[in-house]
Amino acid sequence: MNDTIPIVPMGLGHLRQVLDLGHEVFDVSVKPYTSWSLTAVAEHLDTDDGACWVALDSDRVVGFVLGSMEFEFREDWAYLEWIAVAPDMQGRGIARRLVEVCCEALFAAGARRVVTDVESSNVASATLMSRNGFVPATTVALFVRTNPAEPELSAEETAKALPPGTKRALIRTGRLTGDNQHVRHG
Ligand SMILES: CC(C)(COP(=O)(O)OP(=O)(O)OC[C@H]1O[C@@H](n2cnc3c(N)ncnc32)[C@H](O)[C@@H]1OP(=O)(O)O)[C@@H](O)C(=O)NCCC(=O)NCCS
Repeated sequence: MNDTIPIVPMGLGHLRQVLDLGHEVFDVSVKPYTSWSLTAVAEHLDTDDGACWVALDSDRVVGFVLGSMEFEFREDWAYLEWIAVAPDMQGRGIARRLVEVCCEALFAAGARRVVTDVESSNVASATLMSRNGFVPATTVALFVRTNPAEPELSAEETAKALPPGTKRALIRTGRLTGDNQHVRHG
């Protein structure tokens, strides 16, 4: 527990640091982190669900949670989509407090369920969620079949080949990250 680290609503001024911290801690080569991008953060900023918060050490963003009332087409389900704590600040209960404040906001906004997804090897995230009231529900495995006629393109080659409109659509659906550095392989 570290109550000396305040947790405050995320604002526009936190955007750059949130984006950078996400790039530092998310492995964007695996689902569900492939869609981490400026767009992902900005779309959350654009909602008024009160479910996006940052943990601050002075002016430094050392953690964040991004939630929204949008999960698939379920109007009464909410989504805790992104959570991260800076490596040097982990293990102090900051994520637990971020989960709590986010879920409180989403329930207050009318959610009957809050959903989150955890990559199967992410022990820290699975422990965090299970210790904070989340129980495993549906498991989705990504099965991948590579086109044998297509050599796998590098991320840069793939990004270059896409027209801007297509690129934006892929970013929005999580198949390409905003900085064009990584594409989904799984
Ligand atoms: C997952 C993450 C946010 C946890 O942040 P944190 O501030 O260190 O977590 P907390 O200190 O609040 O710990 C919460 C619980 O998870 C447990 N936990 C945290 N890290 C753990 C780890 N590496 N292994 C096992 N359990 C862990 C803690 O023991 C604690 O359980 P407890 O309440 O029973 O003691 C952090 O590890 C992180 O940023 N990871 C990279 C980003 C990521 O994968 N985000 C999740 C997907 S969006």
